[in-house]
Amino acid sequence: MPPFAARFATLPEYPLAKIPQKKRELIERGVDVIDLGAGDADLAPPPAALERMSRAIHEPALSRYGFGMGLVAYREAVSAWMQTRFGVQFNPMTEIVPLLGSKEGISHLALAYMEPGAVGIIPEPGYNSYQGGTLLASGEPYRYALRPRTDFLVDLDEIPDDVLRRTRILYLNYPNNPTAAIAPRDYLERVVRVCRERDILLVYDNAYSELAFDGYVPPSIFEIDGARDVAIEFHSLSKTYNMTGWRCGWAVARPEIAGTLAKVKSFVDTGQFMAVQAAGVAALESWASFVPGNVAVFKERRDAAVTAFRAAGFECDVPCATMYLWIKLPDGVLSAEFADRLLDEQGVVVMAGSAFGQGGEGFFRISFITTPARIAEAAARAGRLLGEMAGVGAA
Ligand SMILES: Cc1ncc(COP(=O)(O)O)c(C=O)c1O
Repeated sequence: MPPFAARFATLPEYPLAKIPQKKRELIERGVDVIDLGAGDADLAPPPAALERMSRAIHEPALSRYGFGMGLVAYREAVSAWMQTRFGVQFNPMTEIVPLLGSKEGISHLALAYMEPGAVGIIPEPGYNSYQGGTLLASGEPYRYALRPRTDFLVDLDEIPDDVLRRTRILYLNYPNNPTAAIAPRDYLERVVRVCRERDILLVYDNAYSELAFDGYVPPSIFEIDGARDVAIEFHSLSKTYNMTGWRCGWAVARPEIAGTLAKVKSFVDTGQFMAVQAAGVAALESWASFVPGNVAVFKERRDAAVTAFRAAGFECDVPCATMYLWIKLPDGVLSAEFADRLLDEQGVVVMAGSAFGQGGEGFFRISFITTPARIAEAAARAGRLLGEMAGVGAA
């Protein structure tokens, strides 16, 4: 075998990689496993998307290569959705890039901007594709620890000038996975100002824009003045419409930036299965009839999770967005050890904070991907382990 490229050798283990196998082994041994790991809910996609998909697979035209263009109706539906939801206008043909899930777009974009010496600012804990994309493109990650001290926001004033001068991409994701933090508007205005001054591309990952509670309405970065000059925003059908496996998302940016991503992709994929895009149109058009009810289900789960984990002895804030609870561990309890033991001894899958980068140490994440009753059962089991590891919580 030839040696690996240096960039490959820098890739860490992907956090979710080992869990499915481990989970299978436990289930085969008869363990009642409760999975609160991946952000992958057990809920159904919109009926309109299912119905459209079942017809679309019988339409031969949709089985051909989509190429970068894909289904024009999908581009138009995305453009209309951005207009209705955020009041921002984007040209369907030149400013929208259909994606096979937002993850591939986020990762591939780095290939256009990164090279040795170029920096990507990576919030940690954070979604692993920011780091993965940067490393695979031979860029240099600058890891910024998201901690309660800054309300889990990246404070650009704390980043050394020498790093900012070499920075090509700043990755931001609010509502945030895994901390569930949100970004105030004046914070986003400051970020856009710095990116304009420093000529930094702002990659704004808005995968959770629709999963918000208690009256909070997450913005698009493009609601901020000047953002069009510097930002590209990523969206996904995965969380909003319970369509994780369908691999359907989009990026939106001014033509020069959108075209850059589209060019990279033209050498990587030959477009998406257009039946998925046809179903995506149906999903996007079903926002009003589907999303509020779906969010209500997540809110019920959130409330159950907060109540149950607090009762089990844990500390957590009440998140006003995302499908996650970011739960503090007592000092001295390492998150990876806690998560490993919770799975091995109690049959509960959670994500160790350190799986999202060292900045996530001291916390773990649960996802609202099962029923309130199962979440409560998981919390009780986690509380038992906490009692053993830290001498607190439910006995
Ligand atoms: C913050 C964030 N961005 C992007 C994604 C990718 O979503 P998808 O590739 O399914 O569109 C996820 C999925 O977990 C995520 O949490």
